[in-house]
Amino acid sequence: MNHTVDMRVRLGSLELRNPVVTASGTFASGREYAGFVELERLGAIVTKGVSLHPWAGNASPRIAETASGMLNSIGLQNPGVEAFCASDLVWLATRDVPVIVNISGHSVAEYVAVAERLEAEAVVSALEVNISCPNVDEGGMAFGTSRSAAAEVTRAVRSATRKPLIVKLTPNVTDITEIARAVEAEGADGVSLINTLLGMAIDTDTFHPKLARAVGGLSGPAVKPVAVRMVWQVASAVSIPVIGMGGIATAEDAVEFMLAGATAVAVGTANFVDPTATMRITEGLEAFCLKRGIGRVAELTGAVRL
Ligand SMILES: Cc1cc2nc3c(=O)[nH]c(=O)nc-3n(C[C@H](O)[C@H](O)[C@H](O)COP(=O)(O)O)c2cc1C
Repeated sequence: MNHTVDMRVRLGSLELRNPVVTASGTFASGREYAGFVELERLGAIVTKGVSLHPWAGNASPRIAETASGMLNSIGLQNPGVEAFCASDLVWLATRDVPVIVNISGHSVAEYVAVAERLEAEAVVSALEVNISCPNVDEGGMAFGTSRSAAAEVTRAVRSATRKPLIVKLTPNVTDITEIARAVEAEGADGVSLINTLLGMAIDTDTFHPKLARAVGGLSGPAVKPVAVRMVWQVASAVSIPVIGMGGIATAEDAVEFMLAGATAVAVGTANFVDPTATMRITEGLEAFCLKRGIGRVAELTGAVRL
């Protein structure tokens, strides 16, 4: 019987002390959560999306609650990479936790410029390339729904960085494995999925959409079965590690994603419901392994019995 669990997992050359990371855009850079979460106990902090120039984001309302989930149309609001380096990265450098920076762009050249700017920043452990945001008119998901565009961004960013490269995939496609294979072929070290599912909600009093932009991205427990299915399909199709996310709110949810093939898991919308969710899930994952006599959490990855 094991009395300890080896919680370490490996994303290419990057070792995480445990598989639980934050989902981009739901944890900022961690500063606001520092009173609730021991940041040093996270597998990694994945930051909010960062672009070359400041992005204003979309008009409000840009959040709507739905059954077992939420819609958002934030629109990748961020202060731009220079301000991010001067503020968030300086603060993150004082914390002992791997930092994965999520990057965005309107064009391939913008993604490359952000990656180049971050190359010299030792505090950045890896890049997560967001080709899957449904809330912007140019860039974002447009790159993630076309195999050739996904390949082109990955190839260009790959040549701009030596850091581990994770590409974040959208579920708003017919066959996500095609996109996963395309980015793997261009040198991605891992893929993360899923970003939000495109959705809409309408106020029956006013007849207006609940979001100013009309449509937005659905996240939270409502998307979990779709996400688990896609993680399973992608993990079966590629040899690089998968970071699974979409509705993870409990340790059992995290186990489910790992069984489907995820090496690590990201917690997103659950942070808004319970700011300590990442800690609760990490502890629960360890307790699950202890109870089942599993010595290494990594043994869960892909262990689904079909
Ligand atoms: C308010 C909000 C902002 C988000 N911002 C980003 C972002 O900047 N970049 C990105 O790649 N994903 C972003 N996402 C997507 C999440 O990282 C995650 O992929 C998705 O919400 C599914 O996980 P969840 O159901 O646990 O939230 C955002 C999600 C939400 C809810």
